[in-house]
Amino acid sequence: MSAARWNPRDLPDQGGRVFLVTGANAGLGYFSCEQLARAGAHVVMSGRHPNRLAAARAALVRRVPGASVETMLLDTSNLGSIRAAAASIGARERLDGLLLNAGVVHPPAQRKVTADRNEVVFATNVLGHFALAGSLLAPLARAGGGRMVWLGSMATSLWRFDPADPQLVEGYTPWRAYVQSKVATQLLGFEADRRLRDAGMPVQSVVAHPGYSVSGRTVGIRGVNEPTLKSRFVGNLQAAVTQSKEHGAWVPVRALLDPAAESGSFWGPTLVSRGVPRPAVAAGVSRDRERAARLWDFCEETAAIHWP
Ligand SMILES: NC(=O)c1ccc[n+]([C@@H]2O[C@H](COP(=O)([O-])OP(=O)(O)OC[C@H]3O[C@@H](n4cnc5c(N)ncnc54)[C@H](OP(=O)(O)O)[C@@H]3O)[C@@H](O)[C@H]2O)c1
Repeated sequence: MSAARWNPRDLPDQGGRVFLVTGANAGLGYFSCEQLARAGAHVVMSGRHPNRLAAARAALVRRVPGASVETMLLDTSNLGSIRAAAASIGARERLDGLLLNAGVVHPPAQRKVTADRNEVVFATNVLGHFALAGSLLAPLARAGGGRMVWLGSMATSLWRFDPADPQLVEGYTPWRAYVQSKVATQLLGFEADRRLRDAGMPVQSVVAHPGYSVSGRTVGIRGVNEPTLKSRFVGNLQAAVTQSKEHGAWVPVRALLDPAAESGSFWGPTLVSRGVPRPAVAAGVSRDRERAARLWDFCEETAAIHWP
């Protein structure tokens, strides 16, 4: 299938390929798993809560008969949990794709820290994924060009990034924590591409944003997506600029699978907030090499993970 003719409803066969998805029990992560499994891939659905994971796995197997899936506990805000999951996946023969999707999308009103003493939004959305991806380079390389995909956001155009204070010790607000975490995610995704190329590693790094994908416009699935009447109403009121999470997942799935998606590229929906996936233009701040280098050093030190 050529790049221009990509059809998210008819994906290339993924038989024999293995993918790990974080935050797989709900939202974009869940629907990405469905789409990958429907294309024949083996999918490792990871999440932080066993019951929520079990419900999501049951739903997926019901909706995609014959799907090849397993579940894995992985809390991206917890560096110990990352190490345990990375040890398990790292021992496998290959990993073709890693979808760094899990996210706190409604940050707490007041700044909170994790057991590792990191700010919770930064820890969940950024640091955990940086540590996980850095720990899984070997199985990605063994797949011969395995790919990691980072979940950015169109909100990155709305705020700069302060490399002196990635964990918002000063001036925390929920909105700022979220947007800053997404700028940081994009910075790391593009920096990972440069470093992997420089090191000559056969691993790719791609960044994707899913537009504006809401639960209220998404099919109801018990234990996975159970929107309130209010969110259905609001979602439909905003129909001109929103899409379902199922359609939002089209973007990261294309970023993972399309052979024409180059390492270092950025993908988003055609109409910015909705539509089929196509190459997009990333906010300038997230392409800034100096900010990226400072953030990279900070993450390596804070997570105690050094990418080879
Ligand atoms: N939806 C959009 O319009 C949009 C736009 C731009 C970017 N994004 C990005 O896309 C990603 C997914 O968003 P979404 O809309 O699908 O959100 P969502 O429906 O709220 O799902 C978030 C997922 O992340 C998981 N998660 C949260 N904290 C976690 C942790 N500490 N460890 C492991 N998993 C954790 C959640 O699990 P629990 O059920 O256990 O909480 C859930 O499975 C996020 O990174 C978000 O920033 C979304």
